[in-house]
Amino acid sequence: MKASAPGKIILFGEHAVVYNRPALAVPVTQVHVDVEVLDSSRKGIWIHAPGINLNAELDSLPGDHPIGSVILKVFQRFGFSTPPFQGGVDISINSTIPVAAGLGSGAAVSVALLRALSGYFGQPLADDEVNKISYEIEKLHHGTPSGLDNTVITYARPVYFIKGKPLEIFKAAKPFTIVIGDTGIPAPTKKAVGDVRRLWVRDQYGIENIFNEIAQISLIGRSFIESGRPELIGDLMDQNHEYLQTLTVSCPELDHLVETARKAGALGAKLSGGGKGGNMIALVRQSNAEAVAGALISAGAKQTIITEVS
Ligand code: MEV
Repeated sequence: MKASAPGKIILFGEHAVVYNRPALAVPVTQVHVDVEVLDSSRKGIWIHAPGINLNAELDSLPGDHPIGSVILKVFQRFGFSTPPFQGGVDISINSTIPVAAGLGSGAAVSVALLRALSGYFGQPLADDEVNKISYEIEKLHHGTPSGLDNTVITYARPVYFIKGKPLEIFKAAKPFTIVIGDTGIPAPTKKAVGDVRRLWVRDQYGIENIFNEIAQISLIGRSFIESGRPELIGDLMDQNHEYLQTLTVSCPELDHLVETARKAGALGAKLSGGGKGGNMIALVRQSNAEAVAGALISAGAKQTIITEVS
C-alpha cells in the first residue's frame, strides 16, 4: 500500500495564524513524502526512513518518536491492542522535502503514513480524519501549532486558514510563479513560536497590532489572487516580511536571500514558515524565475524550487 503527501509554503500569515489570524498556504508538489507499507516475513513493524537514518523496529523507538506516535495512533483508532497480523510489516518512508526547512516535512510524513497504514489495514481514513490525527501529532511535537501545516498538506490545495474554523480552499484566478530559496539553516519552529510568545507576553497591545496588520495582508492577498491580480501580492510579501522582522523571526541569511531576490527582479519576497532559518519565497514573473533562482544560489541558497500556484 502506497501513499504520498506534498510539501507546503506559507504565502502570508505565519505566526499571526497561531493567534487566530488568517493565513494563506499552498502545497508544493515538487517535493513529497512517499510511504509504502508491505507484508514481511520478518516479525515486527520495521520502519526504514533513510533520510533520517532510521532503520528500526517500532518497539525499539522512544515512546514519543514522531513516526512511532503516528503508527500507535492508527492502532488506537482501529482498536488494535496488538499488531493485527501474523508476520510483520515493512514501512518505507522516503522524502524529498528538506527537513526542518519550513516546508512541512513533519506533517507530510504524518499524513502519508496515516494514509498508507490505514489503507494497508483495509480501512483508508478520510481526509478530515487524516487532518485531525496529524494535527494531534503536530501538537505532540511542536507545542502550540495552528494546524495550518497539516491542513494544507492533507488537502493538497491552496487554503485560507483560520485556526479552529472550517476549511476554506481558494483558487488563483490567474496562475503565478514562486521561487523558494533554502538558507540551509534548520528552522527551529518551536523556538521561533516561543520567542514570539515572549514578545507578546511583554507587549500584548503592540504585538496584537502587528498580527492585525498581517491579517489584513492575508485578506487582501487572497482577494488579489482570487481576482486574477497576483502581481499585486509582491508588495504585500515585502510588507509581511517587515512585520516578521519586527517579530524577530527573520535572520541575516533570510534577509540576504529576500534582498537578493528583489534585486534580481522578484516582485516581492518574504521568509516563509517559522523563520530563523528555513526557506524564503519570492514572487516572480515566469520568464524571470530561473534568473532569480540562480541569483539565490549565488547568494548562498542551498536549494531552490520553482513552483506555480494555480
Ligand atoms: C509554521 O509552518 C508556521 C507557524 O505559523 C507555526 C504554526 O502555524 O503552527 C510559525
